[in-house]
Amino acid sequence: MSHPARVVQVELGERSYPILIGSSLWSALAEEIASRFAPTRLAVISDSTVGPLYEPQLEAAFEDRPWKTSHHRMPAGESHKNLASVEALYHEILDVGCDRKTPILALGGGVPGDTAGFVAATLLRGLPFIQTPTTLLAMVDSSVGGKTGVDMPQGKNLIGAFHQPSLVVISLDTLKTLPQREISAGMAEVIKYGVIWDKELFGALEVGMEGLLSVDSEALPEVIARCCEIKAEVVSKDERESGLREILNFGHTVGHAIEAATEYGEWLHGEAISIGMLVETAIAETRGTQLGDLRGRLRGLLSRAALPTTPHKCDLDRIWRLMHADKKAREGRIRMVLPTRLGRVETVGGITQAEFEMGWKICEGV
Ligand code: NAD
Ligand code: GLY
Repeated sequence: MSHPARVVQVELGERSYPILIGSSLWSALAEEIASRFAPTRLAVISDSTVGPLYEPQLEAAFEDRPWKTSHHRMPAGESHKNLASVEALYHEILDVGCDRKTPILALGGGVPGDTAGFVAATLLRGLPFIQTPTTLLAMVDSSVGGKTGVDMPQGKNLIGAFHQPSLVVISLDTLKTLPQREISAGMAEVIKYGVIWDKELFGALEVGMEGLLSVDSEALPEVIARCCEIKAEVVSKDERESGLREILNFGHTVGHAIEAATEYGEWLHGEAISIGMLVETAIAETRGTQLGDLRGRLRGLLSRAALPTTPHKCDLDRIWRLMHADKKAREGRIRMVLPTRLGRVETVGGITQAEFEMGWKICEGV
């Protein structure tokens, strides 16, 4: 049996859980499920791309285990992270049967992860939840921290619940089948951690970005573990986003509005966040924050990660209106996470439409 090379702990009192990181951890996953949940049934939620690729590994690892596994696939892609998919999954899982001890296991990226988490949070008023992320983005961000939910036409992630997983298992081998564009999209969230928290991480990314984009990179597992450590620390201090956790939203006020304005179909989440981080950094500059060459360094790193760095021509009034659906907004006023220097950010209220448009146009012009 392969063993995790790294374990990162999310400290949340009696709801604490480990993140196991290593190569091909399928049998370790089976062992953890047996010892932690001793289930008689288990429901796996994946998507139409990941299911055919990795359900066989789960089946092989679960072969001699005493539980019955049912597999449920939602259509792949952000445009299916919605209530229609949730309802279809409720029906399927209720039809095969479940009880309060039936764990829901998310197998896939952030889309099945967030959707399965919401199903786990709400079915029978709450079932145990396990995350097995298969995208870089889900490994470094969405599988950790217990934010679950789905999108609405009015905005991203507007329906949801906090529901922590009891276990996260990162099998790094799954990255081998991930398209390069998706590796880049995940890298946007990795770069985010450098800007908001860890300037050494940002520096290491500047040294080795090209190598890290290869899934054979020896340095990538350590970078993933570092991101998990940062997320675990932030979530442990502010699980329900009453303050500190907002920093994880750097780039997301603008990025989420871009995703909603393009009907969740044009930009990958990480690509929208790439633009969002640059626009929000430019907004900080227009408000007078002295950032030196931070925006130039950030743009350079995002571009080396093959991420978009120049916004398309967009209806800025629409983006501005959609930004009001952001969950950080208060009394109709936009709040944003803006950098103060490399490795530090702050949440700022009262951003004006003129400041937003100025930030956007600065990024369009470069
Ligand atoms: P995703 O789940 O849509 O995965 C991207 C694509 O890659 C999909 O087409 C998927 O089928 C495919 N795929 C996944 N794993 C694969 C593999 N190993 N091999 C081949 N193909 C594979 O998207 P994502 O980028 O993982 O996640 C984005 C979502 O995560 C967004 O909805 C975003 O809002 C959410 N998110 C949530 C949190 C959170 O804290 N809950 C944090 C960040 C992002
Ligand atoms: N990705 C934002 C959060 O988990 O809070």
